[in-house]
Amino acid sequence: MVSVQTASLLLSFAPLLVLSVPPIWTQPEQVHLSYAGVLGSMVVTWTTFNKTDSKVEYGLQGGRLFEMSAEGDATVFVDSGEEKRKMFIHRVTLTDLKPAATYVYHCGSDEGWSDIFSFTALNSSSSFSPRFALYGDLGNENPQSLARLQKETQLGIYDVILHIGDFAYDMHEDNARIGDEFMRQIQSIAAYVPYMTCPGNHESTYNFSNYRNRFSMPGQTESLWYSWNLGSAHIISFSTEVYFYLEYGMELIFKQYNWLKQDLEEANKPENRAARPWIITMGHRPMYCSDDDQDDCTKFDSWVRVGRNDIKPPAPGLEDLFYHYGVDVELWAHEHTYERLWPVYGDKVYNGSKEQPYVNPKAPVHIITGSAGCRERTDRFNPNPKEWSAFRSTDYGYSRLQVVNTTHIYLEQVSDDQYGKVIDSIWVVKERHGFSAWL
Ligand SMILES: *[C@@H]1O[C@H](CO)[C@@H](O)[C@H](O)[C@H]1NC(C)=O
Ligand SMILES: *[C@@H]1O[C@H](CO)[C@@H](O)[C@H](O)[C@H]1NC(C)=O
Ligand SMILES: *[C@@H]1O[C@H](CO)[C@@H](O)[C@H](O)[C@H]1NC(C)=O
Ligand SMILES: *[C@@H]1O[C@H](CO)[C@@H](O)[C@H](O)[C@H]1NC(C)=O
Ligand SMILES: *[C@@H]1O[C@H](CO)[C@@H](O)[C@H](O)[C@H]1NC(C)=O
Ligand SMILES: [Fe+2]
Repeated sequence: MVSVQTASLLLSFAPLLVLSVPPIWTQPEQVHLSYAGVLGSMVVTWTTFNKTDSKVEYGLQGGRLFEMSAEGDATVFVDSGEEKRKMFIHRVTLTDLKPAATYVYHCGSDEGWSDIFSFTALNSSSSFSPRFALYGDLGNENPQSLARLQKETQLGIYDVILHIGDFAYDMHEDNARIGDEFMRQIQSIAAYVPYMTCPGNHESTYNFSNYRNRFSMPGQTESLWYSWNLGSAHIISFSTEVYFYLEYGMELIFKQYNWLKQDLEEANKPENRAARPWIITMGHRPMYCSDDDQDDCTKFDSWVRVGRNDIKPPAPGLEDLFYHYGVDVELWAHEHTYERLWPVYGDKVYNGSKEQPYVNPKAPVHIITGSAGCRERTDRFNPNPKEWSAFRSTDYGYSRLQVVNTTHIYLEQVSDDQYGKVIDSIWVVKERHGFSAWL
């Protein structure tokens, strides 16, 4: 018989015993979606800690549950930290989805299934008016905007989310457990709408390995640079980080630059530009900003803007390239603030007109939106911005963008500090696109 003392001793250890029960290593977690860039497709990505099959069972909402199924495969990701933690990243591409139809799905294998999630397949019509939420610099400590984004995603007001670099702070930390925790946190939005990304400086450790392994963007570049189409927009995502981490390969600057040039050339073919007249870019570190720090964008000869002459061969920057190919809107983050610029090229303002600067602007429109919330808090502004600075806010928040039609884009800034108030908005209106629109 167990004495009262022994029993109470055992009881006092009970919480410890519970803690030592191992998790189910075959259970899917960190579920997130991305658009594969092919009409009618969606990629489901998730993690398990033991090897399992990779299946998605799905069906139209209101139809028979899990009527269809698709299989994919898993890659092994071994983190480079001391513990060399190992995980399996599963990817399944769903194809032949009905445009604009809502699907219900779960993912995993017979050894463990995720919760049930749903998503709406992207409408493939070029007259579709997609709605985006966009931001950068969202961490798993102090992710202030996340709750509002969760609710708005559940209300169905976004078709796509763009995360413009800097995740988790930082994914590699604590032997990549911070990466796991962050991916669990964003599952609340990313399992429901495609979550499209580009790398930032906080992903740089171990040659961006957490970023390259955990996301599944279109193309064959481990999510570093790629492009895709939605509605009347061609969207290009790239890495500004190639200019800053030469130790991972100087050739990456040139590889990316040549790819960008070729992609822009293709997007500017008359038939392509007619169908998708808007070209929107997203990259982490801006070419311009008026923050009170020493970042690249505060300098006149920012590396992202004008390239690097201190290396051999010299590396070209991106401002001339984007201007030459008539990029309409450039989205950035990195500065933990929001800043909207007047149309700018070569450090000079090129308003459409003084009264309507964004109606037929004569240079690209830049938006910097890196205040979603992270452990580094927000940044401060320089009290004397240059003339291209149009609106600035240090509130936590994020942006919304809608590609309304071939001539109109709507952009607005949400302040989370002010409970969701829209603190800035513009319409960018263009009757013509491409280089000739500047003249
Ligand atoms: C399952 O994963 C855990 C954690 O990575 C590992 O310790 C264990 O050896 C794995 N078991 C099998 C059967 O692979
Ligand atoms: C896709 O969007 C277009 C433009 O808004 C709309 O006319 C069409 O009905 C949508 N397609 C579907 C399948 O809902
Ligand atoms: C870093 O990763 C990129 C992308 O996979 C690769 O091209 C490059 O060679 C890597 N650099 C080093 C130093 O391993
Ligand atoms: C651009 O337009 C804005 C808004 O009207 C105005 O405040 C600014 O001075 C203009 N800049 C130039 C250089 O014309
Ligand atoms: C595009 O949308 C704007 C704003 O809703 C509207 O005023 C304009 O007429 C539309 N243009 C076309 C070509 O549909
Ligand atoms: Fe950054």
